[in-house]
Amino acid sequence: MVRENGKINGNLFPRRLDQPLSPAVKAEGVWIEDASGRRYLDASGGAVVVNVGHGREEIAMAVSEQILRCDYIHPTMFTTPAAEELATALAVHAPAGLDRFYFLSGGSEAVETAIKLARQIHLSAGRPQKFRLIARWKSYHGLTMGALSAMGRTVFRVPFAPLLNDAVHIPPPYCLRCSYGLRFPECGLRCALALEETIENMGPETVSAFLAETVGGGTLAACPPPAGYLSVIRDICDRYDVLLILDEVMCGMGRTGRWFACEHQDVTPDIITLGKGLSGGTLALSAVGVTSDHFDLICQNSGTFMHGGTFSHHCVAAAAGLTVIRILERENLVERVARYGNLLGDALKDRLGSLPWVADVRGIGFLWGIELVRSRKNNQPFDRKEQVTERIWEAMLQKGVIVYKSTGIAGIHGDALLVAPPFIIKEDEIRMVADKLRDAILETLGS
Ligand SMILES: Cc1ncc(COP(=O)(O)O)c(C=O)c1O
Repeated sequence: MVRENGKINGNLFPRRLDQPLSPAVKAEGVWIEDASGRRYLDASGGAVVVNVGHGREEIAMAVSEQILRCDYIHPTMFTTPAAEELATALAVHAPAGLDRFYFLSGGSEAVETAIKLARQIHLSAGRPQKFRLIARWKSYHGLTMGALSAMGRTVFRVPFAPLLNDAVHIPPPYCLRCSYGLRFPECGLRCALALEETIENMGPETVSAFLAETVGGGTLAACPPPAGYLSVIRDICDRYDVLLILDEVMCGMGRTGRWFACEHQDVTPDIITLGKGLSGGTLALSAVGVTSDHFDLICQNSGTFMHGGTFSHHCVAAAAGLTVIRILERENLVERVARYGNLLGDALKDRLGSLPWVADVRGIGFLWGIELVRSRKNNQPFDRKEQVTERIWEAMLQKGVIVYKSTGIAGIHGDALLVAPPFIIKEDEIRMVADKLRDAILETLGS
């Protein structure tokens, strides 16, 4: 892709219109190589996707064998061993009860499916008035209209506001800028209690589901909820017959050091969404998990789930997903994340924590966020026009390390970077990422 006279050559409608991108030609382990032979340490696994590392031959073999054996099968006409086995493999690791999985092609589609599934569970249970969705500000749930309506990331929503069938949003558990000006634990988890107040205000008989990322990711920059948050949410949902949908598209599949992030607070949702690392990034694959109680209810009362998906339950993508799970199991990679997650967090805190623009270094497992501010005194964000995240990201790229951008944590402003490497990253590479981040921040913001 080359830019001439302000025009972009070629036929691709690229993801970035502001500048040409170098072609990537090889990806192996934690490294990506471009056409000029430059190598980059992929310290974010792309968009927090690559978990077992790039270029796994075992996945390539499983996928090619699956295509040769049986490539496309319509999911209402046949089932496939690959889809069946992937569902079973997920059920083995999922919290007890979550044991039915519907496969799709991307996280956004999984979120859409979860919202529709919640509605259909209520219809099956004889609660037809329940249709409204509550979600959280500063969340990210995807690019499709339902996911966008649920999402609480201001800059992404504003251009499309007239088109949204909007959810009602409550404040997220984000202690650095607590919406109530309180401090944990004296706050008594006011942000979780906001769910009950909102359900009451909306009329409990109308509320279908509450949707939240278990660990705030792309917008909140790796912000785990404070202790006890999910139990309070679970309890409120139970009392009002509101279904709890936890979005683990980013934080699931071992990313936090447990197979499912909700395990850290010992809470099981009614519905869970997975994506990204489910296929290790090799093929488009996502999933919606639901408890067997809800699944059985739909089977008995509706007899059908009113949904679709030409590429749902895709056996080739399922073969990739199954192989990723086998690799995670065989190489104990989720346990490795739990062990090395602290090392990553400590390295980031050690190298960045004292910088005057670093308001917070937070995270869990291999999902860490660095939030940047103009002044730590009052956590005043930089003006978005200053493009602080983008400039540091570019400086990192020049140093041969890829991290992930997270903007809009403070309304339309706010800058943060995510570090979320493949689970196989080595200790010296972790230290290198932290060192280079320090250099990049100093070069970009130091006078
Ligand atoms: C928590 C969460 N949900 C949903 C999505 C949407 O997934 P996809 O981009 O695969 O559609 C994302 C993507 O970043 C995400 O982080």
